[in-house]
Parts: sequence; structure tokens; C-alpha cells
Amino acid sequence: MITSQTGALGLLGHPVGHSKSPEMMNAALKAMDMPYIYLAYDVSPAELKQAVEGMKALKFRGWNVTIPHKVAITRYLDELDDSAKEIGAVNTVVYHQGKWVGHNTDGAGYLRSLTEEMSIDLSEQRIVLLGAGGAARAVGYALATAGVKKITIANRTVEKAEQLAEHLSRWTRTAAVPITDCKEAVEGATLVVNTTSVGMYPRTEEIPIPADWLHREQIVSDLVYRPRQTALLTAGKKKGAQIHTGLGMLVHQAAIALELWLGKPAPISLMKQVLETT
Ligand code: ATR
Repeated sequence: MITSQTGALGLLGHPVGHSKSPEMMNAALKAMDMPYIYLAYDVSPAELKQAVEGMKALKFRGWNVTIPHKVAITRYLDELDDSAKEIGAVNTVVYHQGKWVGHNTDGAGYLRSLTEEMSIDLSEQRIVLLGAGGAARAVGYALATAGVKKITIANRTVEKAEQLAEHLSRWTRTAAVPITDCKEAVEGATLVVNTTSVGMYPRTEEIPIPADWLHREQIVSDLVYRPRQTALLTAGKKKGAQIHTGLGMLVHQAAIALELWLGKPAPISLMKQVLETT
């Protein structure tokens, strides 16, 4: 029941009409018995400042941030935590001890999903990250700081791969290659992660690398979650590889945000179920 004590949470993005976050978050809040509502707000870049000022004045507990505001939001916050600083983007804002603090739960969410679903020794992983955009920065940061053996960034624009490899080299061994030239790295990888948008609905037949490069002694992981089984995952499965879908990251990045706002563990399996059925 909504009362005068109900607290506010939400999502700022543009557009947000397709988002399943309100269903997932409100189901979680109910199960956690927390008196909050979570709404999606479609805010254009020109309206961002005003929207943030409004949310602060209305004493939101916090909110999520999505495309295109993940970088622009930083100028309206008092502090960034390490993840947001290193990734260079914010997906979660938390009101903490009188300050508005930006966090990024995408990388940690990916890592939790990977370790929950796969039996994996992180210190043994030789990884190929396909892509070098915002999603690659988040996942790369989480994997690098978790102590993996090596990360090769393979990207269409090789300069971006080089920049990310240089950044991640503070924590692990790295390399950068053009995505068209990563056959050797993929064949030697224990984990191949697609962070590009290749294969996303409606261009579901597209695959970021040739299927032939994949093999049975690796995990193939895709951040694309629409469709759940991408062409890359289907190819990996055919080769006998283990498959890790993008659904888990979506749930865990949200679960970590709930934990930051409310200080309580979130109901992971319920949240997954809501996403699977909406
Ligand atoms: P996100 O925040 O989702 O990571 P982004 O920052 O725009 O989005 O990054 C998109 C990534 O997908 C980039 O690595 C991009 O490659 P470029 O850096 O060369 O642009 C990659 N990407 C997008 N479309 C692609 C395609 N058709 N083939 C290969 N890579 C593609």
C-alpha cells in the first residue's frame, strides 16, 4: 500500500518505455517488505539538471541512471565511488550521509552473475572482451580487479581497445587487437565476453566473431539479453562451450543497487523470474 511514508526510487533515462526495471524492482521491494516505489522517468538530456534537482528536493532514496545520462549525471553528484570513477560512468545514485554519491553496479553485477552461474576459477581466466565501450569498461574493470590472468580487448575501433587495455593494465595483463583479428586470442581464451550490441534485437542473426573460433573448452558470455539466446551463444553451444546469458547481469546490477539503497539482500530468483515472464 502507498502511504505518506512511502519512499521514492526510480530510473532516469531516455527513452525508458521499454524498461522492465519497474516490474522487477517493485516486485523485489514488495518481497523485501520495504515501503518504496520505483518508477521510470523519461528525461531528455536538456531536462536532466532540473530532474535531478527535483529528485533531490523530493528526497529520493536514490535512483538508477541509464542511457544517455550515465556520464552526464556525474556533474550533479557530490562524490563518485571507486567503481564509478574507474568506469567513468554512473548507473546508481545513493543518498548517503548528506551526499549524493554515484556508483556503478554493472561490473560487479556481471561478476556476481558469472560466479553464481558458472563454476569458474577467476585467477585462471584468459579473457577476450569483444567491444571497448561503456559496457566493456564496466565488465573489464570488474574482471581485472578480481584478479584474472589476462584480458584481450578486441574492438572494431582498435584505438578504443588500446585505451581500455592501457587502463586495465593497472590490475592485470592486457592486450588490444582489432575485432577482425582476434582469432588467436579467442582460440586461447577460457572466457569470451560480448559487450558489443551485435546480435541485439532486431538484428538477431548477427554475430561479432566467426562461430568457428569458439570451442568446447571455454565459456561464451553475452551481455545482450534480447534475445536471451544470441547467435553468438547458439554458436558457442553448438561447439560444446558453456553458455552465460545477459539476464544474470541485468538482475545482479539491480540487486546491488537495492542493497546500496536499503542495506538488505535482494531476492535474486524472484527478480529473474519477473524478467523472464514480462
Ligand atoms: P555500450 O555502453 O553499450 O558499451 P557503446 O559505448 O556505444 O555502448 O559501445 C558499443 C560497442 O559495440 C563498441 O565497442 C562498438 O565498437 P566501436 O568502438 O568500433 O564503435 C561496438 N559495436 C557496435 N556495433 C558494432 C558492429 N556492428 N560491429 C562491431 N562492433 C560494434
